[in-house]
Amino acid sequence: MKILIIGANGHIGKIITPILQQRHEIITAGRNSGDVSVDISSVASLENLFAQIGTVDAAVCAAGDSITSDLLSMTDEKYFTGVQQKLLAQINLVITGLKHISDNGSFTLISGKMGEHPTKGSSGKAVANGAVNSFVLAAALEMPRGVRINVISPSKITDIATEDLINGYLKSITTSANGGIIRIGYN
Ligand SMILES: NC(=O)c1ccc[n+]([C@@H]2O[C@H](COP(=O)([O-])OP(=O)(O)OC[C@H]3O[C@@H](n4cnc5c(N)ncnc54)[C@H](OP(=O)(O)O)[C@@H]3O)[C@@H](O)[C@H]2O)c1
Repeated sequence: MKILIIGANGHIGKIITPILQQRHEIITAGRNSGDVSVDISSVASLENLFAQIGTVDAAVCAAGDSITSDLLSMTDEKYFTGVQQKLLAQINLVITGLKHISDNGSFTLISGKMGEHPTKGSSGKAVANGAVNSFVLAAALEMPRGVRINVISPSKITDIATEDLINGYLKSITTSANGGIIRIGYN
């Protein structure tokens, strides 16, 4: 398969990319890292990315910022970081990417445990992650041409088994899973 990995140079990306590279053609992307440059918070940048790389069989996103701060210090701007950089960025990856993904291809987005099991200070992460999960549940109902979409929702990666994270990605990319919130390190 030809697989796009956005954020391949990050903590999660560095775990999954070498494994996927063993069996697939991988194109890595990031703002300042990877084979191709992209800022997923910009639709124009996403369109430019696909114009360069063409059709892919799978698009994986392991990127997206959100803000950690106690509730009384949160502001519109801090919430908007997660909305723009993690939620809308990944929604736009899917909307733009649908024009460039193969029949029966897949999208694998990223959320995180805080979307379902928040801790104090995590409301900025919780709203972004929860909304990404909700988007995937809804979007899976309308994917055309056999295309699938799932989201990986990990605990802190230092608390989880690397193998579980890798298996989560393999489930999303290589099985028939669709509309799944793939929880890693929690239930
Ligand atoms: N690490 C964890 O324990 C953990 C747990 C649960 C969920 N998550 C979620 O997983 C995602 C990745 O986490 P991480 O720890 O691997 O992050 P990270 O180490 O900061 O890596 C993020 C990667 O994404 C790229 N990136 C960031 N913003 C981008 C943008 N706007 N456009 C394109 N590329 C972008 C970065 O490369 P450039 O700098 O070159 O752009 C980098 O390669 C985040 O959404 C995080 O909330 C992480």
